[in-house]
Amino acid sequence: MALSGGRNCPDLQDHIAALEAEGLLIRIDKPVNKDTELHPLVRWQYRGGIPDANRKAFLFTNVYDSRGRTYDMPVLVGALAANRDVYRIGIGVSLDEIGPHWANAVNNPIEPVAVTEAPCQQVIITGDELIGEGKGLDALPVPISTPGFDSAPYLTAGMFVTKDPETGVQNLGTYRGGLKASNRMAVRMSAREGGAGGYLHWEKYKARGEKMPCAIVLGCPPSVAYTGPQKIRRDVDELTIAGGLAGAPIRTVKCLGLDLVVPADSEIIIEGLVDTEYLEPEAPFGESHGHISLEDYNMIFEVTAITRKSNAVLSSIISQVTPSESSVIKRVAYEPMFLSHLRDHLGIKGVKRVFMHEPLTNIRRVIFLQMEPDTPRTEVWRALYGATSLRADCGKYVIAVNEDIDPDNGDAVFWSLGYRADPDKDIEILRHRDAGHGPKGPGGTRPEDSTLLIDATLKRDMPPLALPKREYMERAKELWEELGLPPLTPEAPWHGYSLGDWSEEWDKLAERAAAGGYLENGKRSAQRRRANIKPNTHVRAVPDWDQDQDV
Ligand SMILES: Cc1cc2nc3c(=O)[nH]c(=O)nc-3n(C[C@H](O)[C@H](O)[C@H](O)COP(=O)(O)O)c2cc1C
Repeated sequence: MALSGGRNCPDLQDHIAALEAEGLLIRIDKPVNKDTELHPLVRWQYRGGIPDANRKAFLFTNVYDSRGRTYDMPVLVGALAANRDVYRIGIGVSLDEIGPHWANAVNNPIEPVAVTEAPCQQVIITGDELIGEGKGLDALPVPISTPGFDSAPYLTAGMFVTKDPETGVQNLGTYRGGLKASNRMAVRMSAREGGAGGYLHWEKYKARGEKMPCAIVLGCPPSVAYTGPQKIRRDVDELTIAGGLAGAPIRTVKCLGLDLVVPADSEIIIEGLVDTEYLEPEAPFGESHGHISLEDYNMIFEVTAITRKSNAVLSSIISQVTPSESSVIKRVAYEPMFLSHLRDHLGIKGVKRVFMHEPLTNIRRVIFLQMEPDTPRTEVWRALYGATSLRADCGKYVIAVNEDIDPDNGDAVFWSLGYRADPDKDIEILRHRDAGHGPKGPGGTRPEDSTLLIDATLKRDMPPLALPKREYMERAKELWEELGLPPLTPEAPWHGYSLGDWSEEWDKLAERAAAGGYLENGKRSAQRRRANIKPNTHVRAVPDWDQDQDV
């Protein structure tokens, strides 16, 4: 794509145009209430039986609020990861290349380049212009994500930029920000072990008795936005990884009043100081683990300036119950990261694919490992143990399955557990697991959790799956369609296949029967008639049975 205005990589508005060109964006021009209708409307594409592949980004061009006010700024939802295709457009590589592309960006970071004139500073709002109704934050069409439960409109696509006061390295993190006043917001940075990078910075500013400078970037170039939800090493500036993803230096500009740099080609920047002495109650808010986060004390963000493009678009991520944009954005990068951990770091060869279960379980709790056939049992178990240790909050249940089991198909998973796992031998429970990202217990407690590992792979050869062979099912499908019967959506497994315990002889019998030669087969069994054998005795258990005898 040819980029104007000196941009090195597509900005959010280039991305909107690319989505629209691919038929992946729905424009809604009808007036929509941002407080009560906007997120619930987009929610239907996740709870309304619409297949993943048909999900789209939504651009609302005519937004009003419950006070009857209208906004001239459009609101964009789902534009980063409504589904994998939307993510693919944003990151600029095919779906298969996303994993290697991420690995390449992490291994080959590109330093940002500073500019002095930035689109994100075309409009500057400071001082008194930030204070009062319809001003500052109150002038932004920030939607309410979970009307009926949320206590405020929330920024959900904000990338929070903070700087380590000791090393000078900046951190980018996608955190939520709840509006409290036209110049005040509550922000929530996870304070648990392995939590938010921004929180670690906050602790350092607190120890110094200083407020923490923080810039919230709304609507940055997608390559930058995709780094926000990822855990990147603390000593690495995520803007360099974003450069690696974009394949070009990210253009940055110094904030108006803070010693921080932000992506110059962003839509909106909210500059402010985070109080390190006082906290305020924050939430309720619908969380990405799928439950409402109840009121906790969290940080106070005092706005010092808002800068933006003159034609800025406000973006919002749809999160809460999964699947959601929030789970897609994480899953697309987490799955290759887990695969690389198992294959490249632990050297386990038999892992074919890592699959993080998304609907309702929020990708972290249930992980499937698809294993290649004949992977030694010890390697299956190394993979199971390895998958639990990469991230404290991922892998409460880890289940190894064969390649023919589609982890998206719950029935197939139960089939695998039912026939391929022996609870006595194929299950381990590991204790002392962090409760991870999830609803808290009564009074805000976080009880310890545990992990269940299951090896549900085949341990021995099994007879074929009892469905007609592929060629018969394919021919029958053509016939079905010729007859004008209702359209089919084949569900795996839809044809029989060998699971190891089968022979050429039985193949010949079956072929002959299908060709109308069952009488021939009957003669063959007559020749093999035996006395003094108990019914149900397997033919191979008969002493002089010749498996390869000509039929
Ligand atoms: C839509 C969305 C909202 C998020 N909200 C928060 C949040 O409010 N607080 C938080 O600590 N992490 C939140 N996360 C997860 C962080 O973005 C993620 O843990 C990331 O690694 C944070 O970056 P950091 O490791 O530099 O802190 C959110 C992620 C997404 C995609």
